[in-house]
Amino acid sequence: MSIDKVSVIGSGTMGNGIAQVFATSGIPVTMVDVSEECLERGVGAIRSSLQRMEKKGKITAEEVSAAVDRVKPTTRILDAADTGLVVEAAPEDFELKAGLFRSLSEGTSKDTILASNTSSISITRLGAQTDRPDRVIGMHFMNPVPVMKLVEVIRGQRTSDATLNAVMELSKALGKIPVEANDFPGFISNRILMPMINEAVYCLMEGVATKEAIDEVMKLGMAHPMGPLTLADLIGLDTCLSIMEVLHLDLGDTKYRPCPLLRRMVDAGLLGRKTGEGFYQYQG
Ligand code: 3HC
Repeated sequence: MSIDKVSVIGSGTMGNGIAQVFATSGIPVTMVDVSEECLERGVGAIRSSLQRMEKKGKITAEEVSAAVDRVKPTTRILDAADTGLVVEAAPEDFELKAGLFRSLSEGTSKDTILASNTSSISITRLGAQTDRPDRVIGMHFMNPVPVMKLVEVIRGQRTSDATLNAVMELSKALGKIPVEANDFPGFISNRILMPMINEAVYCLMEGVATKEAIDEVMKLGMAHPMGPLTLADLIGLDTCLSIMEVLHLDLGDTKYRPCPLLRRMVDAGLLGRKTGEGFYQYQG
């Protein structure tokens, strides 16, 4: 099956960003989520992101409406059945993703490639939930998806060369730069990024410095575009914690233990930008 139509499971920050890049590349997208409210928010986020690009003169008003029209929101996962590729972008929870992969395995054609945008969960383990582990792969986009160039492409134990090549080519067609990684906890990106963010939270908890000072040092001293605590707020503190838990459990090394302050903030519902407060406060 050629990949001229795709589905994205999840309409949250990553899901709607992924749907947007397919749509702006001229590829029709079925965007699946559990409720109409989630889907409306997802389509709204795509529209505002595209309008932001229009204001900067990067795309025309006609291109904005054509891209939005290419996104078909639905609450029925079986509407993903006739697409050549499904990208799962549900929250970072193994049981949730495993259930989705079992449903997709039953409900889609044997030729359909099943990709996960997981930040750290094993692609091999997700592949084992399906009837086609050779067609299961990681397609890890970065936040904000319309802006960031990278797609980390993760090869599970049984992913075939054909699947890998198809996803590498498709990523290039989206204007992204794909980089291949093998299936180890956190892959490349989060194996390196999350321990840094976690250490920044330890610095804050232990009183090494204020949050502003920690962020300034990494911005001005290491030329990072945003400091680690600001970045944690952008990613979502719940996502950061889930990734640290995967690194800790699957690699078994205490150096990956999640910072207690990170856990306490997640328990308090202070998840970052998406809830209006994390290390910093956000309006609107
Ligand atoms: N949609 C469309 N355009 C957007 C956008 C969005 N959601 N967000 C930002 N932009 C555009 C802006 O319009 C602007 O365009 P311009 O260059 O034409 O003016 C450009 O991106 C830069 O945005 P801003 O001027 O508003 O702000 P900054 O210069 O501070 O850039 C940033 C914002 C691109 C987010 C930058 O701060 C950055 O690169 N931060 C680091 C992001 C990062 O590390 N992401 C990876 C997170 S890890 C991850 O996703 C993996 C997961 O598994 C955890």
